[in-house]
Amino acid sequence: MCGIVGYLGNKNSKEILLGGLKELEYRGYDSAGIAVLQEGEFNSFKATGKLINLEEKTKDFVTDKFSIGIGHTRWATHGKPTELNAHPHIGDASYVVHNGIIENYAALKKDLIAEGVTFLSQTDTEVIVHQFEKNLKNTTSTFEAFKRTIDELEGAYAILLVTKGEKETIFFAKNGSPMLIGINAENEKYFASSDTPLIGHCTDVNYFEDCDYGYVTPDTFTIFNKDGKEKKPHFTKLLTNKLSAQKDGYRFFMEKEIYEQVDAIANTLLGRLDDNEVLFDELDSTLFEGINEIKLCACGTSYHSALTATYLFERHAKMKTSIEVASEFRYRNPIMHKDMLFIVISQSGETADTLETLKMAKEAGLKTLVICNVDNSSMVRLADSCILTRAGVEKGVASTKAFATQVTIFWMLSLYLAQKKKSLSPQEITKEIALLREVPASVKVSNDMHEYIKRLSKRYLHGHGFFFIGRDVFYPLALEGALKLKEISYLHAEGYPSGEMKHGPIALADPELFTIALLPQHLLYDKTKSNVEELSARDSTICAISSIDFDKADDFIAIPTCKDYMLEFFEMMVALQLLSLEISVRLGNDVDMPRNLAKSVTVE
Ligand code: AGP
Repeated sequence: MCGIVGYLGNKNSKEILLGGLKELEYRGYDSAGIAVLQEGEFNSFKATGKLINLEEKTKDFVTDKFSIGIGHTRWATHGKPTELNAHPHIGDASYVVHNGIIENYAALKKDLIAEGVTFLSQTDTEVIVHQFEKNLKNTTSTFEAFKRTIDELEGAYAILLVTKGEKETIFFAKNGSPMLIGINAENEKYFASSDTPLIGHCTDVNYFEDCDYGYVTPDTFTIFNKDGKEKKPHFTKLLTNKLSAQKDGYRFFMEKEIYEQVDAIANTLLGRLDDNEVLFDELDSTLFEGINEIKLCACGTSYHSALTATYLFERHAKMKTSIEVASEFRYRNPIMHKDMLFIVISQSGETADTLETLKMAKEAGLKTLVICNVDNSSMVRLADSCILTRAGVEKGVASTKAFATQVTIFWMLSLYLAQKKKSLSPQEITKEIALLREVPASVKVSNDMHEYIKRLSKRYLHGHGFFFIGRDVFYPLALEGALKLKEISYLHAEGYPSGEMKHGPIALADPELFTIALLPQHLLYDKTKSNVEELSARDSTICAISSIDFDKADDFIAIPTCKDYMLEFFEMMVALQLLSLEISVRLGNDVDMPRNLAKSVTVE
């Protein structure tokens, strides 16, 4: 995910900005840049890849006087990871860095282009600096121009802006994306998008609230709230532990990543939805030409998201779709036809088994597509086409936001294909797109639900096993729920299609067998309910997850009433992730680094 730093003071600003960006490396990035205003002159540097490339570019640049500077690490979301798309973005005499998404950027950009502004990048961010400079031409107050610009932006942002006419001022604004300012006894000002760059430099910090905006100079720090009223900063002591600072106040990276799913999915959707069309600009329009079948291959969680795709591709796009566990596919001399599109799915893009199947498909002359979270990974480099999930760095070994973004991509891809094949009507596509827009809200963790699951978890720390059951896409979700639980709790858990329980596993039913039942209101509710009743009648302990109250359950996790089964899918996904997390916490396990597991499995 992107990171922001800013500095105002007399020290070596280049070193401070680069040092701050280094502290944000853990969030992941694919390009970086800084801009420094010293003695009335701007110097700006950008580089793709690791920070060492930026350090190399700035090695002869000296900052030994008072200066102001801003810096950024970018994780590509809108536009490729190129130097032109890296921040800071330049206007005529101003620079900006930004985290978040400017939702109305396309409209603003269109107007600015019509007025003669030239854009250098494909980013949403660049509109901020041009809009500011446009406003500056129509007012004598730089701050007024900045304020007007902020008023015109829609979406989420943390913004730092510097401009040549104000040699001692950094302008800031925050809404939806985190940012803080740190101070110390030497009257310096530091900005960052999380605590870590400030540790060791500052003693006190003020965390900006949504809709805060203002400016700092060497002697002033002025903040306004959303009503335009000046407000007092609220300084608190800065943490001193870097690892806990990286977790942004969460106990574990996994927990942080569950909460981050709202932003991660918003990024996944960004620029890919029109009102009545799904867009994948990164795909060649001929990708599906001559294709009569799709083969999906992946491991672990990625396999589960792909299994969801088999239901969606066949339902929406009427495309024959099959799936294989990559480690099985490799050695069974599979039949591969040229009319088959081969899709691999991987968070890391490095999983050895999946990578090998991709090589096999390429050798067999198949068209290949990878759905991946890491640009420039081995699979991304090898496949003919690539869709990036844009989940941001996932540190917890137990995958959460990677799964959520993969399923989102598959839902979109099934519609993209349905558009091409005209297997859904324009009205149906429009309806699905409206639902997709609701996914970020459906993964927002409610405090009440989290607290409830925390309490509930104490009843599920033992037993002789868990069955997670569901039908249709809720079967892959059940598999994923079971995988999450076993990975971090070390309790035995299985995912099963609910209709299959009576063909064997029901023999295990007793009060010490825990059944986690996924009961979506909008998909096969009655069928699944009867399967759960069969288990309940045999005294299995049932924890039902549904929006409809279920009197045969021992425990009940209520999700809100949704418009569609896919939104129920995402609501239940969060409940399952939290349940595993809280069980693991109670058992005293290392949630982020469970025993025997690695984040990226690069061996066979
Ligand atoms: C997920 O919680 C697991 N840690 C694991 O199953 C993982 O999904 C699998 O190893 C595949 O990884 P990939 O998506 O990076 O290819």
